[in-house]
Amino acid sequence: MFDPVEKLKEFIRHPSVSADPACKAGMKGAQDFVGGLLTSIGFSVEVVKTDLHPIILATRGANPTWPHVIIYGHYDVQPADPLNLWKSPAFEPEIRGDRLYGRGSADNKGPLMTHISAVARLLERRPDLPLRITFMIEGEEEMGSPSFPKFLATHSDRLKQGDFVFLSDTGIPTPDQIVITCGLRGLVLCDVIVTGPKSDLHSGLHGGVLRNPIQAVTELCASLHTPDGRVAINGFYDDVMPVEEWEREQIRKLGTDLGKYREFLGIPAFHTPPGFTPFEATRVLPTLEFNGIGGGYQGEGTKTVIPSKAFVKISCRLVANQKPAKIRALLYEAIRERMPKDVTCEIIDQHEGTPYVVVPPDRSNTPKKQSPMLAKAFRAADRAIAEVFGKPPLYLREGGSVPIIADIKRVTGLDSVMMGLFLPEDNLHAPNESFNLNVMERGIRASEKILEAIAGS
Ligand code: BES
Ligand code: MN
Repeated sequence: MFDPVEKLKEFIRHPSVSADPACKAGMKGAQDFVGGLLTSIGFSVEVVKTDLHPIILATRGANPTWPHVIIYGHYDVQPADPLNLWKSPAFEPEIRGDRLYGRGSADNKGPLMTHISAVARLLERRPDLPLRITFMIEGEEEMGSPSFPKFLATHSDRLKQGDFVFLSDTGIPTPDQIVITCGLRGLVLCDVIVTGPKSDLHSGLHGGVLRNPIQAVTELCASLHTPDGRVAINGFYDDVMPVEEWEREQIRKLGTDLGKYREFLGIPAFHTPPGFTPFEATRVLPTLEFNGIGGGYQGEGTKTVIPSKAFVKISCRLVANQKPAKIRALLYEAIRERMPKDVTCEIIDQHEGTPYVVVPPDRSNTPKKQSPMLAKAFRAADRAIAEVFGKPPLYLREGGSVPIIADIKRVTGLDSVMMGLFLPEDNLHAPNESFNLNVMERGIRASEKILEAIAGS
């Protein structure tokens, strides 16, 4: 008998941190583990080499007249540090209450194992199920999927044989309220490095004759938002897709308890652009955030120094219809224009991702043409989730990003059905990450029903 929780524990024991070269063995271990698991439930497994971490492609069902679902997941995880804040070691899975703790338990090993388990149970019950299934499991998601575009280019013909992509790598608000995610934000990231004098200087000998690079960086940062919280770059909001009324209604159903959300965040007050509630802002508006800043003396006590360099790391989240290249150009133009000419400024490109939106059937006032199989999948998901979780799903755009979803759409034309499974308290990317095992068990039952409903007859 296939035991999902035991399998998930085994998966978590492989420390597959894609960004850490020291985790080579863990990456290989995780690949071999999922590959072996899929082989054991009847899939033919191919490990597709890339410049960095391989992508696992596993298929079952050869009849080209059967519907074909591509299930996406990632076997890589975020780094586990700071290690001293974990109550049990990050790569030694431990059950406490109804949760399984460990790095990657929620992002994305648990949700991926949910679908693998659903497929295992379904095929055990119906070995001849008329459904083609391809698992496409990558190992670079947490570092921006650098190898994925090349993989897409070389495998697009095969992927185009799919009807839609099915995945769980997004969130839900409570254990009994599932969300079908119908949008993901995009990303544009860069580093700004400002150099003043060619070396650190004594601030008494030279202070007062030159601009301090920390001042240049912080004044730049201060210029990038208006006091009411909008991004202060001309044209930044030009292409933003307007919110439809059905979306606002779905967001309202998410709950109105702003106090709880505020307490969860631990902030004294919200700071949200006018015209949008906090629950709307993270889903339908783009942002510009500072992810790190540095320069000068960081040690104990004091040091009277004018630093040579200062830096800031910036990321923008984009929403549907915004183009990463255009936003990058607007951002760089603003930085260069606002940077004083008495310092030198270098901007270093980091990765980016295109935002994604899919309108579920029967929602929009201006519905787009949709493949019958995609519409069937959405309706099957709605029904299965209502049956298993006791309430129909909400249809929401998500604040986070899974950039390859838009790339898949662009290259193959395939849309994605995203069944959210992780909770705000799952601590993604943070110490003590965990996955709710009740959500997992019900997720398995829902996934099984969805897959069975879309199978041919
Ligand atoms: N699973 C997350 C995306 C996510 C997070 C969706 C929270 C919904 C809610 C994914 O693994 C992730 O962390 N993505 C990164 C982007 C990536 C390019 C590093 C993100 O959103 O920051
Ligand atoms: Mn993820």
